[in-house]
Amino acid sequence: MNLTNIIFIFTILAVVSAVKKTYDGYSLYKIIPKDDSEVNVLEEIKQKNLGEFWSDDFKVGLDAKIMVAPEKRDEFVQYITNENIEATVAIEDIQTAINRQLNPDVIRTSQSYLSYSWSEYHNLNAIYTWLDELQTNHPDIAKTVVMGQSVENRDIKGIVINHHPERENKRIGMIEGTLHAREWISAATVTWIIKEFLTSDDPEIRALAENFEWHIFPVVNPDGYSYTFTDNRMWRKNRSPASIKTCPEGTDDDMSHGVDLNRNFDFQWLTVGASNDSCTNTFAGPTAFSEPETRAIAQYVGTLNEQGEFVYYIAFHSYTQLIIIPYSHVQSDGSLLSGNYGDMYEIAIRGADALRKRYGTTYRVGLSANVMYPMSGTSFDWVKHAYNVPVTYLMELRDLGEFGFLLPANQIIPTALETMDALVEMDRNTEKIGYYHASASGMFYSMTVVLAGVFVVLFH
Ligand SMILES: *[C@@H]1O[C@H](CO)[C@@H](O)[C@H](O)[C@H]1NC(C)=O
Ligand SMILES: [Zn+2]
Repeated sequence: MNLTNIIFIFTILAVVSAVKKTYDGYSLYKIIPKDDSEVNVLEEIKQKNLGEFWSDDFKVGLDAKIMVAPEKRDEFVQYITNENIEATVAIEDIQTAINRQLNPDVIRTSQSYLSYSWSEYHNLNAIYTWLDELQTNHPDIAKTVVMGQSVENRDIKGIVINHHPERENKRIGMIEGTLHAREWISAATVTWIIKEFLTSDDPEIRALAENFEWHIFPVVNPDGYSYTFTDNRMWRKNRSPASIKTCPEGTDDDMSHGVDLNRNFDFQWLTVGASNDSCTNTFAGPTAFSEPETRAIAQYVGTLNEQGEFVYYIAFHSYTQLIIIPYSHVQSDGSLLSGNYGDMYEIAIRGADALRKRYGTTYRVGLSANVMYPMSGTSFDWVKHAYNVPVTYLMELRDLGEFGFLLPANQIIPTALETMDALVEMDRNTEKIGYYHASASGMFYSMTVVLAGVFVVLFH
């Protein structure tokens, strides 16, 4: 073989590997396991690689969504029929749903600001360009910030909003978006929050905006997010090449090309709900903090903690409609470990009540182990543990699984509006409980809740 031929072959390989993954003919199945034996069947389906799971873990009564390739469909259907498992088709053709999500047939509304709108989903460049525009248009209160670079050297860019730079003692809130690449509603909602904090006339939203210095990062996994637009819509992890290997039959080797950033933080790393196998979606990485993205977040949070009263850290994910309270590795009997579970629960449940008022959307509140499944090495648990930030949540946005990651664009604004309702109501309660100052009444309230909690545990 001469050199020209070799170059030719490499060119073809390069072109082939850059081709966007198609989900033509893929279907999404829904199974709700009724008992442990059905949970085992799901485990078997995973082991046999009959499909790719949208959820990271399973338990009795919890929806499992399984993406089944056309060539596996017969075998999958045969298997669940033999096992006598009830399954329904949630999405008949996933590629059609992807196309529809990217090209929504909605009427363009006036819900746009500068170059950006909330009638469609936007790629990383559009988001970063818009952040720059915000700084130009609001030079006194908005400043873009780069917390670090990703594996592929993209900036992790966000914005700092401070309506009162003259204040000496500032309260700080941080919002983290899109740590998981395919959860597009996270980026869309977080950009809406930024817009509202800069432009809203609503007095309550303005108060929430003005009472804090906000540090908001719509996409903390820029490589993964870009990859969902260019190559594989269903990508979740970052794009670390460090653990690339040959994956079992049925799993694309590309699956090993990334680390689950929400399992890579150095708190309870790899203890539960995470994997040491790079061919899985919950690969925790070769070591804790092996990834530049997680290290950048940790370092940024550390510097913030020294700059004022750090009150909020909220990470936005999708889907399932949950407000998750730290810590995620514990069961109910470990809820007191975070120090102020009672307060965080109270604040979250009131937020969920307010959220429901607008459209009837229901969110559940609790520990990850209770409302979903246990997990470890997550960003929000790490932040809570490292800096004891009083109000720390992971919010799983819409929906309950009808569209899941492929939530249609006409749900962006409703999701954003109801989420803002929740944040405003949460903040009202955060202040009421006393987290705006380390005031005596706040301390007293916290002590009461902790004592009540101990009482419940002791006498239950
Ligand atoms: C990975 O985890 C499995 C159990 O989940 C264990 O058997 C195996 O030894 C681990 N491998 C490494 C390299 O740690
Ligand atoms: Zn997620």
